[in-house]
Amino acid sequence: MTRSVDVLLGMRPRFVACALVAGFVSSASAHEPQFQPPSPFAMTAPSVGDAKPGHAVPAYATSSRIVAIEGGALVIDADSGWLIRTDLAGAPLAHLAIGIDAGTLAYDPIAKRAYVADRRGDRIVVVTIGTELAIATTWATPAEPYGVALAPDRSTLFATMIADRALVAYDVASGKERWRTALDPEPRGISIAADGAHAAIAMLGAGVIDQVELKQHKLARLPIAQRPAMTEDQRGAFAVNYLGDHLIATALQIERPAADNRNEGHYGGSPFPPIGHVLAFVDDHGKGATAETNINEPRAIAWDTAHDAIYVVGMATDSILQVAHGSQVDVHLGLTGSLGTRCGADGLAIDPDGNVLVWCSFPRLVVKVTVGDTLVAKSGPELVASNLDAKQHLGLVMFHTADFNVSFAGGMSCGNCHLDGRSDGTSWLIHEQRLQTPMLAGRLVGTAPYKWDGGAKDLTTSLRATIDRLGGDGLSQKHLAALVAYLEAMPAVRAPTRDRAAVARGKELFESAELGCTQCHDGPKLTDRQRHKLGGGTFDTPSLIGIAASAPYFHDGSAPTLDTLLRDHGAVHGMAGEATGVLGDAQRADVVAFLETL
Ligand code: HEC
Ligand code: HEC
Repeated sequence: MTRSVDVLLGMRPRFVACALVAGFVSSASAHEPQFQPPSPFAMTAPSVGDAKPGHAVPAYATSSRIVAIEGGALVIDADSGWLIRTDLAGAPLAHLAIGIDAGTLAYDPIAKRAYVADRRGDRIVVVTIGTELAIATTWATPAEPYGVALAPDRSTLFATMIADRALVAYDVASGKERWRTALDPEPRGISIAADGAHAAIAMLGAGVIDQVELKQHKLARLPIAQRPAMTEDQRGAFAVNYLGDHLIATALQIERPAADNRNEGHYGGSPFPPIGHVLAFVDDHGKGATAETNINEPRAIAWDTAHDAIYVVGMATDSILQVAHGSQVDVHLGLTGSLGTRCGADGLAIDPDGNVLVWCSFPRLVVKVTVGDTLVAKSGPELVASNLDAKQHLGLVMFHTADFNVSFAGGMSCGNCHLDGRSDGTSWLIHEQRLQTPMLAGRLVGTAPYKWDGGAKDLTTSLRATIDRLGGDGLSQKHLAALVAYLEAMPAVRAPTRDRAAVARGKELFESAELGCTQCHDGPKLTDRQRHKLGGGTFDTPSLIGIAASAPYFHDGSAPTLDTLLRDHGAVHGMAGEATGVLGDAQRADVVAFLETL
């Protein structure tokens, strides 16, 4: 990261055109484009904030991995699956095993109870917080709870379900489900408005915030503002935070999958990173503005209501951003600071003194950032061992690293496109072809060759080509091997709950000779690992594991849903010839139900 961008440009004099993506400007004096690293915070449109700060939103009304509690912090570590209570110095006081890959938590400081999402265990674990951490009760949930937040009056707990795409409201006193409502695919964090009227939900896959009106449970999709004169996809929002009653902040990335300059073997057809990062503001009425930031893989936002300051951190950037007057019309850059460690920042909390607590998921420790004229970070001790072995853990860190070895100017990490080990749903222009980011989780072991065309015989070959396309200088053998170990250890994504009878009927159809799907999609990973000549070119049969979470479909993303794939695109690509034409609507729904459970 120490090399200057000028040196790098000097090494690569072949750039001829400029793609205007976040942080890129063409220089008038030199004829070559210059890469400008993105600024820490720059609004790209007039702010949508108010003349005065928004009404305070209590910390428990926004889902988080870490919360400030009396005498320290409470954190849910996804790696070990432990809920850990620390003292003010970040040293461990008590812990409780919840479940590996756990989601977020909300803490009720009056009842002294924490509500923790057990993502793989399909339950909310209600924990009493004292010198010991004790399970008070557990509430069964639909598949894959992740975001949890309490209503401002603490009477209702709201939880987002990733696989089952739902928002569920629980009565805190009885633990009974009050209602549930459907959400768009890939919901993550949640935040409740100060007045308790709405919930805002961060969406991994689309440039919207799902907003639910909590009385009628009505869903609205609040679009995230595009930057002026930009056509871009918006992806990867994990965190969302209400700033008062009507204003919402979320942090995400913007992608330009196809630049004008098409003669490069780089993702997006541009030599420069086609991905940038923004902090977006959206109000209830759908008005919005975005600010460019340099927080890569943003994961957490916290709002210090006493000072109207917003903090943002991310997995791939070891710095913290403070935005001053966050909810107001004159929102502007406050301070920036280094976290002082390869952090993998995945959670933020504000303590009563206005210090910021950062959950560093790689070393599994709390960094306390003291806010003064500058931001000063101090690390606590490691709290728990990783569930991964040393090699896999190094691979995890590599996966979320954006440096010169991986990508041009350190602009991109693996996690930018393979969001949460999945796909960004984007078809990238590469070598004049549109190629969609494939899902990785659970799909790599036993599915070689790799790439849509099956051109890479093993993962190491595939990764070398990827890094070349990203404009990176290359990784050492050791780092490549670590990445492979991590990729292979990634568990498959959770399947949504589907009607069992429909799934059984769909399975029978899928395996029938008429449809002939198993001619190619066979074996434990549902691939024959062969290349087939189809209408659109020659492609390696993809594994269908976790297919519910990888829309759109086909190498070019040309089938938006599994239903459309079976309706016509199966035939367009010639994948299944005319076979799917024999399916009636009900049968097609059965095959879709079966596919979604793979
Ligand atoms: C700019 C978006 C982007 C980034 C960043 C990115 N990938 Fe990919 N990845 C893709 C696309 C698109 C493909 C499909 C390319 C093809 O088939 O030729 C792909 C394919 C793959 C495959 C092959 C999967 C299969 O089943 O065939 C693996 C493995 C992979 N990527 C891992 C990584 C790793 C590890 C990194 C970080 C070093 C990374 N990717 C960075 C977009 C990206
Ligand atoms: C001749 C071999 C073959 C047969 C038969 C076949 N497939 Fe495929 N399937 C492929 C190939 C190759 C692709 C990738 C095509 C592309 O990307 O354009 C694919 C892609 C898919 C995808 C999208 C995967 C993704 O990640 O985007 C699904 C879903 C799928 N097939 C389901 C089916 C079903 C259901 C049947 C039976 C009706 C079937 N396939 C029959 C070879 C086959």
